[in-house]
Amino acid sequence: MKVSILLPLLALAPMAFTGCNSDTTARQQKTAAQNASAAQLTYVAPGKLDDYYAILSGGQSGSVFVYGLPSCRFIKEIPIFEPRAALGYANNPGSETYKRLAATGPLWGDTHHPVLSQTGGRYDGDWLWINDKANDRIAKIDLRTFEVAEIKVVPNIQGAHGLAAYLPSCKYVFVNGELETDHAGNSTEAEKYRSLVAFLDAQTLETKFQVSFVGNADIASSGKDGRYVFVTMYNTENAVSSEGMIERDRDAVGAIDVPLAEKALADGNFTKINGVPVIESEKVPGVLTLIPVPKNPHGCNVTPDGKYVLASGKLSPTVTIIDTKTLKVIAEPEVGLGPLHTTFDDRGNAYTSLFVDSQIVKWNIAKAIQGADDYIVDRVDVHYNVGHTKAAGADTSHPNGDWLISLNKLSKGMFLPVGPAMPESQELIDISGDKMRVVAAFPSLPEPHDAVMVHRKVLEDKVVQTHHLQANAVKLGEEKVVRNGSKVDVYMTCIRSKFVPEQFEVHEGDEVTVHLTNVETVRDMTHGVAFSRIGINVGVDPGQTVETTFKAPNPGTYWYYCTWFCSALHLEMRGRMLVKPQGAQLNEYLGPLAKEDKARSVQKESAYE
Ligand code: CUA
Repeated sequence: MKVSILLPLLALAPMAFTGCNSDTTARQQKTAAQNASAAQLTYVAPGKLDDYYAILSGGQSGSVFVYGLPSCRFIKEIPIFEPRAALGYANNPGSETYKRLAATGPLWGDTHHPVLSQTGGRYDGDWLWINDKANDRIAKIDLRTFEVAEIKVVPNIQGAHGLAAYLPSCKYVFVNGELETDHAGNSTEAEKYRSLVAFLDAQTLETKFQVSFVGNADIASSGKDGRYVFVTMYNTENAVSSEGMIERDRDAVGAIDVPLAEKALADGNFTKINGVPVIESEKVPGVLTLIPVPKNPHGCNVTPDGKYVLASGKLSPTVTIIDTKTLKVIAEPEVGLGPLHTTFDDRGNAYTSLFVDSQIVKWNIAKAIQGADDYIVDRVDVHYNVGHTKAAGADTSHPNGDWLISLNKLSKGMFLPVGPAMPESQELIDISGDKMRVVAAFPSLPEPHDAVMVHRKVLEDKVVQTHHLQANAVKLGEEKVVRNGSKVDVYMTCIRSKFVPEQFEVHEGDEVTVHLTNVETVRDMTHGVAFSRIGINVGVDPGQTVETTFKAPNPGTYWYYCTWFCSALHLEMRGRMLVKPQGAQLNEYLGPLAKEDKARSVQKESAYE
């Protein structure tokens, strides 16, 4: 009754107000002022640097995206599980990056959770780890160069999903097997299915041990004191249908006692499966504690002080707060519909993403534990259907408390239409005050799942200007062509604006390996070499040496040229591979070509006289 009377009144209300000219002006001015102040917060003048690196997983792009915040400017893509010809990454079958990637599985990946290394509860700017859910791989990125340093397959698990560093030491990174299988017997009987959490040496990425159990493991988070690590489990039913997976009203947070697992390992209390020690949770009491939480939890986040682990309810409108020492549930505040992930500021507040409500909800952890009515501090709408959310430094013991990213699954009409598929959408939210404020939105390729934000102060002294010359570097003046039967090694240098050699000769069918060193000593002078018609393109940064091997094609002239615009003579920066028939006489490489060229140009000039 009440509703039917109110609705027409509400519908009329805007019309009544738009009739009033001064009010419209006031509202427009207010909107303009709000936009202007949001723009001021995110404007970083050309040439000025952002405060933060935002590192977003690339999802099915198989890479990692690097943005600057607060400007939301896209800075770099780090290709990891997928080749990038532009960067000469893993695109040539004969290259080291290709061989390393191909040895671990397919040339594509599905990256989800970027994890930064920490020392003393703060980001140290050394390493970034990321998972490939589709092909069960973990990669380590060296933040001095923002390049892949290591890729390894994790044996036994399927659906390598949640990833976190074991704190405080970062001795391990651990990864959750989301998809259940019979990893021991390879049978197809669902009754035999188990899942695993794998603990990898954080540096070598070798799997040191695994803990196996019935159920599955979704998102991961580490306690801060070296005792437990936590995983959310949405399929304690061990079901194989989506209906079956939502049967129980309660699933679990699993707490793995790492020192106890290490003891079981030392005691030989494990089974070796595919070369990896697997600790069955049933055989080592206490190694895995299941803490019941409402229906199909998703996000798993330990608070910055390490006291609590928060499981976001997903199918329950609650976040479960669990004491990380006693493993007891101490509160279950309601936050809204579809809570997926929770992140933190430096003032005791949690921020939970609400997928169904398309909101970020800010709530006070201490008040929620006390049962106070006013634990909800603020809500802000995001666009649309937020998945992960992350505040700057929220994985450490010292969150920054200023910025938060909302990683939205759908952008709908947020950006210019570009066909049926729209870009992914992220929003930047100012959380420095009591009220949250969305100040910017920026698109990305598909599809960031999660992000980490690290202040530039942590990284700016670590990022190198040039590569350090490796032992295999070719030195200026020591370029050569070495023939050994049908194998030819070309030791080549490049510097603005010349390849040396600019010419080499091979026989059809020879196995040619080009060792190319960029001998530039200044930052940003990247060159690249593409071999026309041979399918080779490599990028080479200052100080870097790349090696790539290919088979010499049919006889003829094959130009190679620089692919990175490096100087006014960029187009002239090219050379020839001369492929001759089998058995033909080959000329030895005798050094730079300039003299021969000059003689030829004199001849040509005389022809025009
Ligand atoms: Cu070197 Cu362009």
